[in-house]
Amino acid sequence: TAIPKYVTDLAIPPVMPPVGARGGHKREIDEYRIGVRQFQQQILPPGLPMTTVWGYGSVDDSRTFHSPSCTIEARVDHPVRVTWTNQLVDKRGGFLPHLLPVDPTLHWANPPGGLAGRDSMPTFTKTPGPYTGPVPMVTHLHGGHSREESDGYPEAWYLPVAKDIPAGFATVGTYYDQFRAKFERKYKIKWKPGTAAFQYENDQRATTLWFHDHTLGLTRLNVYAGLAGFYLLRGGPSDLPPGVLPGPAPALGDEPGTRYYEIPVVIQDRSFNPDGSLFYPDSRAFAQDCTNPGGYIPNGDVPPIWVPEFFGDTIMTNGRTWPRLDVEQRRYRLRLLNGSNSRTLFLKIAAGPTAPRPAAAALPLWLIGTDGGFLPQPVPLDEILLVKANRADVIVDFTDVPVGTELYLINEGPDGPFQGGTPGTDFTPADVNTTGQVMKFVIGPRVGADRSVRPDQLRLPGFTPLGPAANARRLSLDEQMSTTGCGPVAALLGTVAPDGTATSLRWSDPVTEHPALDSTEIWEFDNRTVDAHPIHLHQVQFQVVGRGPDGDQPPNPQESGFLDTVVALPPAPGQTREITRVKALFDLPGRYVWHCHILEHEDNEMMRPYIVGPTGA
Ligand code: C2O
Ligand code: CU
Repeated sequence: TAIPKYVTDLAIPPVMPPVGARGGHKREIDEYRIGVRQFQQQILPPGLPMTTVWGYGSVDDSRTFHSPSCTIEARVDHPVRVTWTNQLVDKRGGFLPHLLPVDPTLHWANPPGGLAGRDSMPTFTKTPGPYTGPVPMVTHLHGGHSREESDGYPEAWYLPVAKDIPAGFATVGTYYDQFRAKFERKYKIKWKPGTAAFQYENDQRATTLWFHDHTLGLTRLNVYAGLAGFYLLRGGPSDLPPGVLPGPAPALGDEPGTRYYEIPVVIQDRSFNPDGSLFYPDSRAFAQDCTNPGGYIPNGDVPPIWVPEFFGDTIMTNGRTWPRLDVEQRRYRLRLLNGSNSRTLFLKIAAGPTAPRPAAAALPLWLIGTDGGFLPQPVPLDEILLVKANRADVIVDFTDVPVGTELYLINEGPDGPFQGGTPGTDFTPADVNTTGQVMKFVIGPRVGADRSVRPDQLRLPGFTPLGPAANARRLSLDEQMSTTGCGPVAALLGTVAPDGTATSLRWSDPVTEHPALDSTEIWEFDNRTVDAHPIHLHQVQFQVVGRGPDGDQPPNPQESGFLDTVVALPPAPGQTREITRVKALFDLPGRYVWHCHILEHEDNEMMRPYIVGPTGA
């Protein structure tokens, strides 16, 4: 069942139309009405079946629904307001069930729990089946400097307005009403049922952000079903003037056939059933060959459906498997995003898709920015490590590549959990025939001049590093193992006492991270597992301070700017400890989360609330 490669063009996400876009007048607030719907998309090449997916789009125009979503183009210091609407209903107004198997035994949104049991560990049955009810959603702007009521807290979810919601179901999560009241008071805008209005102030550096679903215990499935999109923040002193970098990027009202030299590229692994539908495991047996009885005993045996990680056998780029892009002999700016559930990417441009590994890079990737904006200077790299949710703003210069050449974006990350090290030396790279390939570039002649600045001559906008930290806290990454040999039961975060004793905590345990408002803190991640975990903090962009057994080795050049997600490596061979230290300024009060961005982990306890400010929410 080989899927032919490089037969479809890379899909370039169009710009999300704001409300009143056709009116033509400039507003102080860019306003959007964005829905989530179910539809079919040709992810596999033409001739193969279509795939049913979920995606975001403008509720006023059904042609704007794609996965990945249309891109939100935002301006620094100009607020964006989005009314996010859960439209997962069928033509008759009944709710649509989930496309994928929902494990109802995790600590999750749990609408059947009703008001009392919202966001809870439900009373399990000995042989639970997947949950088949209406689907909760809540959207998070990843990397955004968002106020708490607009951040998409995992327990601020809401169901669609549907006529057949069973009696007794909770239609919103525990924190929905509190954040709704706060938002309505502040902005004088009412949240209608089945929606949440969020406002993004965009008071942060110009950078590549993205939005995705964040529902408690459902994120891995809602994102896998298609709920993700780019949010590009431009302008102001932290950006470069137009024309310096390769462009244009897609803009509203472009003529068909416009050539783009700035392209967002989201890379995600997927598996497909023969009928074209998305495959995601419906049983723990997929991950562990053990005699799991199929029931669930809290703190004892494993959840019956949840898998600790998922690795698809196909690479999907901008919603199509293994696309190709015709490029000109000029420079391109690619905004790379790893949008996978569990897969770590090592990206490289190679002359052949299956050249003997380790394949030499055919062209450098000039890294100019990461999660939190531009680096101090461009860094030429043969290979870029992208853990889950990381972005890399890169320039690729095809100027001197002969017309007719074909180059490949390849992936040398592992087909399994990343445990540190380099491809080929410390682990086996992904299958060169499938997941080791991402997309193809076919080089053609240049049309028009390329006035962008050569990457080796680029001067990037500067930034002020964070000041000294007032406080440091050491935090543990851990997992709970099955007592019957069935592997992990849950992935966990916790606190580490000065004597080195770790206390693992669950989502529902009391808040332990409580930074003072406007304080700068160092957070030290002490990884007590054998796998790397990408750790993400909401609200902030942080600086990596150090790594290693004592956390005092310098970060790598890829980490010289600001990040919102850092790879916390496990102890290196021969070592007993590995500490990853980051520094952040917490300048927004309220309730947020920090978590592992392996979506299977954050859905099963590897996420904790934290509260900034005097009393918190
Ligand atoms: Cu990309 Cu808490 O999320
Ligand atoms: Cu993890």
